[in-house]
Amino acid sequence: MSFKLIDQAPARLNRSELAVPGSNTAFLEKAAKSPVDVVFLDLEDAVAPDDKVQARKNIIEALNDLDWGTKTVSIRINGLDTHYCYRDVIDVVEQAGTRLDLIMIPKVGTASDVYAIDMLVTQIEDNMKYKKRIGFEHIIETALGMQNLPEIAAASNRNESLHFGVADYAASTKARTTVIGGPNEDYHVLTDPDADGNREVHWGDMWHYPIAKMVVVARANGLRPIDGPFGDFSDPDGYKAQAKRAATLGCEGKWAIHPSQIELAHEVFTPSEKEVERANKILKAMEEAQREGKGAVSLDGRLIDIASIRQAEVLVKKAEQIAGG
Ligand code: GLV
Ligand code: MG
Repeated sequence: MSFKLIDQAPARLNRSELAVPGSNTAFLEKAAKSPVDVVFLDLEDAVAPDDKVQARKNIIEALNDLDWGTKTVSIRINGLDTHYCYRDVIDVVEQAGTRLDLIMIPKVGTASDVYAIDMLVTQIEDNMKYKKRIGFEHIIETALGMQNLPEIAAASNRNESLHFGVADYAASTKARTTVIGGPNEDYHVLTDPDADGNREVHWGDMWHYPIAKMVVVARANGLRPIDGPFGDFSDPDGYKAQAKRAATLGCEGKWAIHPSQIELAHEVFTPSEKEVERANKILKAMEEAQREGKGAVSLDGRLIDIASIRQAEVLVKKAEQIAGG
């Protein structure tokens, strides 16, 4: 290990994160009862400009009056380039800050963006004498945000998670797609002809680089990496395939832009019984190996060593966290 220790964000379950437009009070009520891990009440892109003020009022009321149970509750404020932003922070944190766990900052571009919101939230919390501190989630969804990712991730000790906002990221980088998340048939490899002259099209994942980069930076700063939206809510298989790719790279969860996606996210981001069983088997085998003074042994025909202990512990700890609710 490096001599530099990495502080870890508070441990929260974040397998699923439901987006709920603040302009729709029926959706807010439904969201409070849903089985989701984290819910973000949206003031930004799901709310039309004419509805912004009412959405803010709805969210304040919903935070104060609805029973959110043990869910983590977040608000997505408007971007720092809009005049809605300061009122989103001041009004919601002042009037409903005790039930608010997180603030999601969209289109974050620089560490100074984080600093600005941190300053505002700190002053409000101090003035209101709140005991609990509000954490930050950042949506990485612009070329600038991706370029400045390490500085953003380290910019505040309120930071808890980084999210890949595929729709805005595609717009910002001028990627050639108009759907929200998932693969693109143009992003493929065409194999050379085989002996019979046949060629195959192998689809690739055009989002591999930004998600992999976000995972590395998040983990290097003790934050949770979370995959963002998948727009086609009538394609559960497509959603699960995208979620599995993100989980394989190290993401802890994925957004649900429709309630039907919550269970799909839980299915993918909850370690299976088989995985937990295998992880426990590795821990047991390594315990024995270490008693015998060995650093590496074989288990079911495969090499395992001391790094395998760390991998297995991550999985077992995650399963315990989920079982503990
Ligand atoms: C999320 O905000 C996105 O732009 O994908
Ligand atoms: Mg966005």
